[in-house]
Amino acid sequence: MSTALATSTREIRLASRPVGRPASDNFELAESPLPALEDGQILVRNLFMSVDPYMRGRMNDVKSYSAPFAVGKALDGGAVGEVVASRSSAHQEGDVVLHSLGWREYAVVDGAAATPARTDLAPASAFLGALGMTGLTAYSGLLKVAEFKPGDAVFVSGAAGAVGSLVGQIAKAMGASRVIGSAGSPAKVARLLELGFDAAFDYHDGPVLDQLQKAAGPAGIDVYFDNVGGEHLEAALAVLNVGGRVAMCGAIGSTTPPNRLRRPTT
Ligand SMILES: NC(=O)c1ccc[n+]([C@@H]2O[C@H](COP(=O)([O-])OP(=O)(O)OC[C@H]3O[C@@H](n4cnc5c(N)ncnc54)[C@H](OP(=O)(O)O)[C@@H]3O)[C@@H](O)[C@H]2O)c1
Repeated sequence: MSTALATSTREIRLASRPVGRPASDNFELAESPLPALEDGQILVRNLFMSVDPYMRGRMNDVKSYSAPFAVGKALDGGAVGEVVASRSSAHQEGDVVLHSLGWREYAVVDGAAATPARTDLAPASAFLGALGMTGLTAYSGLLKVAEFKPGDAVFVSGAAGAVGSLVGQIAKAMGASRVIGSAGSPAKVARLLELGFDAAFDYHDGPVLDQLQKAAGPAGIDVYFDNVGGEHLEAALAVLNVGGRVAMCGAIGSTTPPNRLRRPTT
């Protein structure tokens, strides 16, 4: 029995550029016709999409390492989906692929821009996480940029986030002497300890420097994996041993309104 192919897709568009924290009225759900497949293209039914910090920057109309989203147009970003029709010799119907047209149910994708997702090895969603961009960021940042080596003591900020949680786990698996993480709530601190971090603290509980010194002890740290910048970076530099290395992955704390740093009282 053949199933009729989708001829249109629902998609999320940028309705207006947010100022500060994005709100739901900055986005709109719309229906859009799907173009007929050309040679080399595939039709993908998206299963999972990724929402990443860099997307907030793309909502601003400023020059950056990736182009801004256009107002009135669908957003895009990493997604994993099933090929439901193919005019590409590289992909068959039923294959699961990783591509960059998220924020919609169906996408017409150039076959050359889609990567097979080996769902016999891992769940499809893992190709947006540990086996995708966040995993590559964590792995290459730790091993290539920070030149991690077994025996290093590692401090990770934003440690409960997508990248940070992987950095800590990779460091532990590869022989770190100690892995310390900072995060923004008691529940996240508990989760880091469950993941195998040796120590973790909530940066709302006091100056980062004091908490980091206590967590690191006299051995200090050899590697700092920075997702946050600001006070975290200053504290890490103060505790870093001679010959220490820093991977500057992100500075999410520098673009966040100051009131984000206060824990809600209710
Ligand atoms: N995802 C990628 O592949 C990728 C690639 C290149 C660079 N990066 C960069 O890596 C960093 C982390 O990305 P991610 O994908 O792991 O993001 P994520 O999963 O969204 O985690 C980010 C975490 O940062 C913490 N945070 C937010 N504001 C903060 C502040 N003012 N001070 C301290 N912590 C704050 C929050 O955790 P708490 O609640 O614990 O504060 C948040 O959950 C970002 O700077 C991003 O730009 C990511």
